[in-house]
Amino acid sequence: MSQTWWRGAAIYQVYLRSFADGNGDGVGDLAGLRSRLPYLKDLGIDAIWLNPWYPSPMADGGYDVADYRDIEPVFGTLSEAERFVEEAHELGIRVIIDVVPNHSSTESAWFKEALADPAARDRFWFSDEPLNDWQSIFGGSAWTQVPDGQWYLHLFAPEQPDFNWGNPEVHQEFEDVLRFWFDRGVDGVRIDSAALLIKSEEGYEDLDEVHDVYRRWREVADEYGERVLIGEVWLPDQERFARYLRPDELHTAFNFDFLACPWDPAELRRVIDLTLTTHTPIGAPPTWVLSNHDVTRPVTRYGRADTAFAHGGRLHGTPSDLELGHRRARAAALLAMALPGSVYVYQGEELGLPEVEDLPDELRQDPMYARSGGTNPGRDGCRVPLPWSGDEPPFGFGAGTPWLPQPDGWRKLTAEAQRTDLGSMLNLYRTALGLRRDLLGDGTLTWLPTGPEVLAFARDSGLVSVTNLSSGPVPLPPGRLLLSSGPLEDGVLPSDTTAWLARD
Ligand code: NOJ
Repeated sequence: MSQTWWRGAAIYQVYLRSFADGNGDGVGDLAGLRSRLPYLKDLGIDAIWLNPWYPSPMADGGYDVADYRDIEPVFGTLSEAERFVEEAHELGIRVIIDVVPNHSSTESAWFKEALADPAARDRFWFSDEPLNDWQSIFGGSAWTQVPDGQWYLHLFAPEQPDFNWGNPEVHQEFEDVLRFWFDRGVDGVRIDSAALLIKSEEGYEDLDEVHDVYRRWREVADEYGERVLIGEVWLPDQERFARYLRPDELHTAFNFDFLACPWDPAELRRVIDLTLTTHTPIGAPPTWVLSNHDVTRPVTRYGRADTAFAHGGRLHGTPSDLELGHRRARAAALLAMALPGSVYVYQGEELGLPEVEDLPDELRQDPMYARSGGTNPGRDGCRVPLPWSGDEPPFGFGAGTPWLPQPDGWRKLTAEAQRTDLGSMLNLYRTALGLRRDLLGDGTLTWLPTGPEVLAFARDSGLVSVTNLSSGPVPLPPGRLLLSSGPLEDGVLPSDTTAWLARD
């Protein structure tokens, strides 16, 4: 792979708790992941991004990090993590980990020290009284009082105190943490809540000083070569977004506009064009993301009347035609994989898993659920442990009872059941990722003339991708059919279907 492997990579997101359980305690772990590396190799991905794997009380699924230089014991050990990186590399798979610089855990050494000694509080935001009326992103006040009367800031859960990036020790600490993992062969980091680090009276979103942080991080990454910095940057303003991708800052950032976009031809085309016009002038590759561990599974979302992703209540419980959603999710997958840049696949997306909306409330673990007083169901429904094999739960996930229950109906969705079914979602992803490796990825696109409800473009390799979002079939442009997300009808492309053609 080239120096710029990340520009066109297919990156598979592993939510470790729910991927595969190697020791039978009901929680996914490194042993489970290592045993499934051949599956990922066979799927045809270039890199794995793992959600936080550090020691954590799991108040927010590991985004409350107690120690940035070790592994959560439930997941394994540091030496297992090192072996995992080596094994992935042996298979030609790169490893990206999550770094969480906006906040820590109340169980971290620094926070415990701060609690014990008021003179050691400058690494966080402590104050005699709340400095503002900021609300936590998970609901409720963003300030919590400690026993001696002071208050600390947490943009997320109270267990996640925010760092004070005005303190040089915090800068030093994170540069050191990057080196710690780069020294262990990690190929890149996904930066959590990347735009929120700096706080001032103006607020906390996207303040200019945050760019100084990433310029330094880029210097660190460049010392190692071939290491990628990926920002989790939710910003509506594309010009502000692009500033994170300047040549001396982050390499790429997630495309949340595409992720949240409804299944609508005009909207999709607008978002694709906007993405390209934002990225092209700065030479940064776009990313194409359909889902992740925070959002509603595409099969469920695309089957609803309103197909946009919505934060807040997530349209939870809105009726969904799962057959239609499945068909559109297949078409969307081929569309996303054909676009120029890198693409993300969130575990289970390749199995066509739906959102699990009927989890018993008492089992919900996402702090969003409790902190919203139950009005927001939270994100557990897209985090249910994967079904690997067999006819009943735990579907080969591991020997124990999975930490969230899997629906009985998932027997048809296991990786094993789908492997031998040529028409399955799994085989669509495998075939598409294989073709993508040779014909797609980094580069440019040229739109082809079509009606307004069809998205058709050619890539540099000559591959043509056509997605039909109209309600009836449309003719295909000339070319040899390579793959389609559903069967053609007498040579024409049915509604909610994508086809890839080669122009020989
Ligand atoms: C974004 C992560 O994707 C999400 O899961 C987490 O809850 C917040 N950042 C806070 O770390």
